[in-house]
Amino acid sequence: MAKIALITGVTGQDGSYLSEFLLAKGYEVHGIIRRSSVDYRERIAHLEGVPHFHLHYADMSDSMSLVKLVGKVQPDEIYNLAAQSHVQVSFDAPEFTADVDAVGVLRILEAVRTNHLEKSCRIYQASTSELYGKVEEVPQNENTPFHPYSPYAVAKLYGYWIIKEYREAYNMFCCSGILFNHESERRGETFVTRKITLAAARIAQGKQERLYLGNLDSLRDWGYAKDYVECMWLILQHDTPEDFVIATGVQHTVREFATLAFHHAGIELRWEGKGIDEKGIVESLSPALAQGKGVQIGDVVVAVSPDFYRPTDVVNLLGDPSKAKRELGWNPQSTTFEQLVELMVAHDMKKIAADDAAAEIRKVNLAEYLEKGVDK
Ligand code: NAP
Ligand code: GDD
Repeated sequence: MAKIALITGVTGQDGSYLSEFLLAKGYEVHGIIRRSSVDYRERIAHLEGVPHFHLHYADMSDSMSLVKLVGKVQPDEIYNLAAQSHVQVSFDAPEFTADVDAVGVLRILEAVRTNHLEKSCRIYQASTSELYGKVEEVPQNENTPFHPYSPYAVAKLYGYWIIKEYREAYNMFCCSGILFNHESERRGETFVTRKITLAAARIAQGKQERLYLGNLDSLRDWGYAKDYVECMWLILQHDTPEDFVIATGVQHTVREFATLAFHHAGIELRWEGKGIDEKGIVESLSPALAQGKGVQIGDVVVAVSPDFYRPTDVVNLLGDPSKAKRELGWNPQSTTFEQLVELMVAHDMKKIAADDAAAEIRKVNLAEYLEKGVDK
């Protein structure tokens, strides 16, 4: 019998990679989607219609929908990935963030208990390095004290503790993966890495003049999302329910990410100024770009805007993945930082060129339609 997995947050970056991973392992995969005015689900569009992949409407803020769905699907494993996952947005929408990211975890646990599945169903909770927040030690491991530093992190801290509580109170197999930042070609476009790789591609192709960022000194331990979903599965296959730090053990600043991303787009940057006055200036161009009429040597292509500063910012994340390496046999370095930046830029260079080609085709079609009345 194929194992049955239920994924909340299936339309997100991690949900899409995890679905592919579990389908390849022979699982029957069920995902939760929520009603939206736009029906196209970009990251999982290629999976819709695939046998053993099923989507259901429910919402993390609606316990009844979760209870009914868990009863219907009878999952062996639940991966609770759904969240309002943007830290800066959590300052603007703290109550919504708490409802989904904190109480949502409780709703999943209670849905499992209500359906009397607490002995058979294993639960993975998408926890986060944001729990370390205003960090109390570097690097951070499973024993490092938490100091959450945003409404998002405080909500996720509740999720972490309620998982631990249900493990101890009801003997449930539920665990938190304390994942450090992980990125990919499917990363949301307002997270800093994707914002940079898309902008570097647009600037190289003459479609954007400048990229505005916030804190360039912030340090992150960035891994590749495709590598990290394997760990979520490994955590649930472990003999005992335990929490794990998942990270690469290497850190870089936002500035270093931007420098490397622009390099892969054909633009070498030099940095001038400090704080709000810092600028990324074009030092040299690849031969292909040097011949074009777009970006020029001396252009300011990166500047700092206070709009992207946070009321409190987490600035020094570095994970120690020793436990995951030792007990799960996981390799934190499958994809290096350098490979990650390169693959994201390569993807976005193609995407920006293709978006333009598609827009051009739409323009031609529209012109012909208006002229001849023929819809191409
Ligand atoms: P993401 O791309 O933002 O995806 C979030 C998912 O949650 C989406 O599918 C979203 O659905 C869904 N969702 C949000 N609110 C919901 C609600 N009320 N009901 C049902 N679904 C809802 O996030 P991600 O990067 O894949 O991250 C997955 C999880 O890991 C999140 O819990 C995040 O907080 C956590 N995490 C991420 C990282 C990282 O670096 N990526 C690191 C540590 C922890 P829509 O598509 O409908 O919006
Ligand atoms: N988003 C964003 N946009 N961040 C910026 C910018 C900008 O223009 N400029 C600088 N930053 C800095 C932020 O201040 C932060 O210190 C760092 O870049 C990373 O920001 P994000 O990419 O937004 O990610 P995050 O670290 O806040 O949160 C992500 O990782 C967490 C794990 O540590 C999210 O995926 C969370 O859901 C996840 O829990």
